[in-house]
Amino acid sequence: MTVGLKTMEFLRLGRRIRRRLNARNVSDQLLGDGEEKRKRIASNVDTKMLKIGFIGGGKMAQALAKGFIRAGLSKGEMMLASCLPNDTGSIDAFQEIGSSTVFSNEPVINYGDVLILSVKPQVMPKVLPELKNYTKLLLSIAMGVPLASIEKAVPAGTPVIRVMPNVPAIVGCGATVYTRGKHAGDKEAEIAEKLFSSVGVCEEVPENLIDPVTALAASGPAYVYMMIEALADGAVKMGLMRPTAYKLAAQTVLGAGTMVRDTNMHPGQLKDDVASPGGCTITAIHYLERHGLRSALIGAVEAATKRCKEVSSHSDKN
Ligand SMILES: NC(=O)c1ccc[n+]([C@@H]2O[C@H](COP(=O)([O-])OP(=O)(O)OC[C@H]3O[C@@H](n4cnc5c(N)ncnc54)[C@H](OP(=O)(O)O)[C@@H]3O)[C@@H](O)[C@H]2O)c1
Repeated sequence: MTVGLKTMEFLRLGRRIRRRLNARNVSDQLLGDGEEKRKRIASNVDTKMLKIGFIGGGKMAQALAKGFIRAGLSKGEMMLASCLPNDTGSIDAFQEIGSSTVFSNEPVINYGDVLILSVKPQVMPKVLPELKNYTKLLLSIAMGVPLASIEKAVPAGTPVIRVMPNVPAIVGCGATVYTRGKHAGDKEAEIAEKLFSSVGVCEEVPENLIDPVTALAASGPAYVYMMIEALADGAVKMGLMRPTAYKLAAQTVLGAGTMVRDTNMHPGQLKDDVASPGGCTITAIHYLERHGLRSALIGAVEAATKRCKEVSSHSDKN
């Protein structure tokens, strides 16, 4: 916000944003799309708690397990994860939430109603052959592993859904998309949506959009962490204490993201609203344009999408 923003302009902006929020049902919208969808889905889908198996008990599996418990979709004792014996961090994390862990995948495979493949993509060729008799709902979060490769590994008719979550799922602010395999119907899609809406927002997309989504939302937190670090560095250079600088930079990103999401206003309009004539914000905007901020971000998403496609085509050949 520029120092020169006049009080009247500021009040007008506040009124416009409030009108937008009112138009979109304020009480629901303030909870965010994820919360809104969680409530809608919870009322539509069978509320039976799910028994869930995780092949790979790493960071994402832990985040998801905690989210499912928080949302009342499962319980610690209704989840089982396979971990490598030396991965004591993951074993401890699952035991802390009351879940059991095992050192081989076999007991997990037919354990529950849903099986989640949460190993690194390079481990998938080792794990997939173990699923040759699996017929229940299979969700895979492995980056760059296409549905076709997974469906080839399981019996014909097995419902498979490919899911791409992101790391803010750990704090319940994830952005997830999913795409259904040939044999996954509405019931299976609803289960996936219910599970992943418990850790943020969740949308269905066609499989050809999973790579750009990965480049935007799964890799995106890294770009934003870099921006937060750099913004804080700038403020430290200008004399701010580092902890205050990180706190303000993180809160600014959170606040700006919430404004875009909850007001449904165009980001360009929101940008114009804080850039008053001759002010410091427009001066900074000019600096960012001269140094190619937009072009760098567009290029980053393009480069990451191309890399995802390379990884996917490699997995397809396996
Ligand atoms: N993190 C993200 O932001 C993100 C976003 C979207 C999708 N994903 C996808 O989510 C999946 C998991 O990612 P992550 O970040 O949770 O990785 P991670 O923390 O490394 O988790 C993978 C876990 O699988 C374990 N593992 C390795 N080989 C195994 C085997 N043969 N059987 C069972 N478990 C095995 C690993 O143990 P060791 O550590 O001992 O090897 C590790 O605990 C990946 O496919 C990734 O592409 C991640």
